[in-house]
Amino acid sequence: MKRNSDELLTFILDSIAKIASLHEQERLLPELSHMCRDIVFAERCSIWIVNEKTNTLWTKVADGVKPIEMKANKGIVGSAISDNQSLIINDVQNDKRFNDNIDKKTGYLTKTMMVIPMKNKKNEVIGAIQVINKKEEALFTQSDLRYLTLAASYAAESIGTILLMEEINKTQKELIYRMGVTGEERSQETGYHVKRVAEYSYLLAKLYGLSEKDSQILRDVSPMHDIGKIGIADAILNKPARLDSDEMDIMKTHVQIGYDILASSDLPLLKAASIVAGEHHERYDGTGYPKQLKAEEIHIYGRITALSDVFDALGSERVYKKAWEDERIFAYFEEESGKHFDPKLISLFMQNKEQFFVIRDEFKDV
Ligand code: C2E
Ligand code: SIN
Ligand code: SIN
Ligand code: SIN
Ligand code: FE
Ligand code: FE
Repeated sequence: MKRNSDELLTFILDSIAKIASLHEQERLLPELSHMCRDIVFAERCSIWIVNEKTNTLWTKVADGVKPIEMKANKGIVGSAISDNQSLIINDVQNDKRFNDNIDKKTGYLTKTMMVIPMKNKKNEVIGAIQVINKKEEALFTQSDLRYLTLAASYAAESIGTILLMEEINKTQKELIYRMGVTGEERSQETGYHVKRVAEYSYLLAKLYGLSEKDSQILRDVSPMHDIGKIGIADAILNKPARLDSDEMDIMKTHVQIGYDILASSDLPLLKAASIVAGEHHERYDGTGYPKQLKAEEIHIYGRITALSDVFDALGSERVYKKAWEDERIFAYFEEESGKHFDPKLISLFMQNKEQFFVIRDEFKDV
């Protein structure tokens, strides 16, 4: 069964590939590796790129730091790449393929490792994502593997673009980038919940009077509000009944998890995304979570996403509830105006319902 969180992650990675501006492309490699590390709760992550001319693999640890190189056919990473095979190795020190040169140099002890080859559109292996040491001495699992495989397919696409860019001049760069953006405009397959939240949020932002640019930023980042749900176990996330209070406490941690994943990035768009992930369950009257922020203490992106998200959640069937009738949603919104929701946003919503219905009809779940 495809998990909701897979769908979310697909959309998120898709968005990241799409939003990385030309200027940001250079920083993409370190950014991607931070994201991959945090997605699977690993201590470290390296993205290795194949250099066919020299038969080596290189990785860039951080912005402005010289790349590290190693022989392409050596070690666990080399073997994952030459066999085009993902590997989970939970006892690295006893694996014959392990090359401990890097450990010796860095004084770092590798215990567990997962390596996922990255392939380009022609199905050629262009490198690998390597994560090391699952946090808290845990082991890497099949679902970590699924997440990282999904990440790898997007990373490969973005990296392919960077590598290509290094060889061409500026005007061509611009052209290719635009083509890349067009190529990414195909997120329908990833489910419409996030798409609707994006469009409702954009509409609310415009109605509220935010600038076109700020409204567009919110459209790009609001779909990431629930990225932290990837840290919530299936048994809770997909429980076909009401959560008890212990389960709800765990569920609520999706806000902090999401914030932590996104706030580790320097990209301005991911910073904006971290606001949405961190504040979408705050309530206007200060009774929300996790920080009990009040009114304007809650960033406008958080206040808007809260309304879009709940509007969509109430109108949709969930494993634990049926979809609500429109009239019941409106009554709820009136009742919660100034409590859960910013009253100004509620009144803009009520006055412009038709425009929200247009979006809902356009992105109907099938
Ligand atoms: P979600 O299902 O996407 O719901 C998002 C938010 O919409 C909820 O945040 C809540 O504010 C609102 N909402 C959704 N359904 C209802 C409803 O039937 N009545 C009311 N009054 N509000 C509703 P909340 O409550 O913080 O929940 C966060 C997330 O936790 C939910 O996202 C869902 O994934 C999960 N969750 C919450 N309650 C349950 C439950 O009883 N069972 C299960 N399996 N998951 C739950
Ligand atoms: C999400 O809501 O954000 C996950 C998908 C769902 O609950 O329908
Ligand atoms: C290996 O691939 O065997 C080791 C490389 C590393 O530790 O980074
Ligand atoms: C959440 O409540 O965690 C987000 C809402 C959603 O899943 O749509
Ligand atoms: Fe949420
Ligand atoms: Fe949501």
